[in-house]
Amino acid sequence: SDAVTQVKNIQSVVLGKWEIETWYYSPLPPEYTGLNTLYVCEFTLKMFRSREALERHWARNPRRHPPGTEIYRKDHISVFEVDGARNRIYAQNLCYISKLFLDHKTLYYDVDVFWFYVMCEVDELGCHLVGYFSKEKVSDEHYNVACILTLPPYQRKGYGKFLIALSYELSRREQVRGSPEKPLSDLGLLSYRSYWSQVLIDLLREAPHPLSIEEMAERTMMKTEDIIGTLRALDIIQYYEGQHIIDLRKVQDMKLGSRGLPFDPQALRWTPPG
Ligand code: COA
Ligand code: NA
Repeated sequence: SDAVTQVKNIQSVVLGKWEIETWYYSPLPPEYTGLNTLYVCEFTLKMFRSREALERHWARNPRRHPPGTEIYRKDHISVFEVDGARNRIYAQNLCYISKLFLDHKTLYYDVDVFWFYVMCEVDELGCHLVGYFSKEKVSDEHYNVACILTLPPYQRKGYGKFLIALSYELSRREQVRGSPEKPLSDLGLLSYRSYWSQVLIDLLREAPHPLSIEEMAERTMMKTEDIIGTLRALDIIQYYEGQHIIDLRKVQDMKLGSRGLPFDPQALRWTPPG
């Protein structure tokens, strides 16, 4: 397929204090390809061919945070909600940059129909992009995440789990059970499996009585197929005489991975749009 023959067209991206080695091809506009290094403003996501051009941009442009509305702030973490239709260039550039780290996934460059939830680390210099997920404004399949990315220097610190937890809290406030768009990448699947396992095991351990799949879906905003798939992968569920039976002894003994960066729903100021 095309994806196999498309070779990496940029070797590294300078973003904030990092120079990040890229992983994959991205269909960047022609003026930015054929470069060894692409220079990106971490606040506006404008792209440049040299460090000097990036520094001229900073001198002209005082903004030190993403566009959109800050919907979450706790400690040194904040999240901005960006409307792809209102901030089209920012959103397109975010897609181009994330494609550098995404293999198979079809990326949609028609950004108007997406929200972007942009996660930042905050310090005295500004709000530094660390990751994001996109979400269709209207999804018939009830997808609550289209594309999710943690920039490589920030991976394996629990930020992916934070973003996933945020996506489910948005679903909770919309009163719609959600699921990430398929197919998931290998890393996407690992992260979701780890997140889903922790949420379900916590729920089962804390519940005063055995829960049905339906009750678990109601409490977690996860789709029943993701719940069943996760419990199967953990090997703690059996289908017996028309019923799902959960092995509660295995639930108690289950070892879980690291907890991720805690997401605090109280620090989220957001109600469903419309
Ligand atoms: N190797 C093995 N397991 C990994 C892994 C890796 N490189 N990266 C993540 N995981 C698993 C682990 O189980 C981890 O939990 P643990 O630390 O307790 O073992 C869990 O995923 C979540 O890790 P977390 O630190 O919260 O995620 P992250 O911030 O690294 O982000 C992605 C996860 C998927 C967003 C990130 O890997 C990424 O951006 N990948 C490239 C883009 C992509 O594939 N996106 C998904 C598209 S569907
Ligand atoms: Na995903």
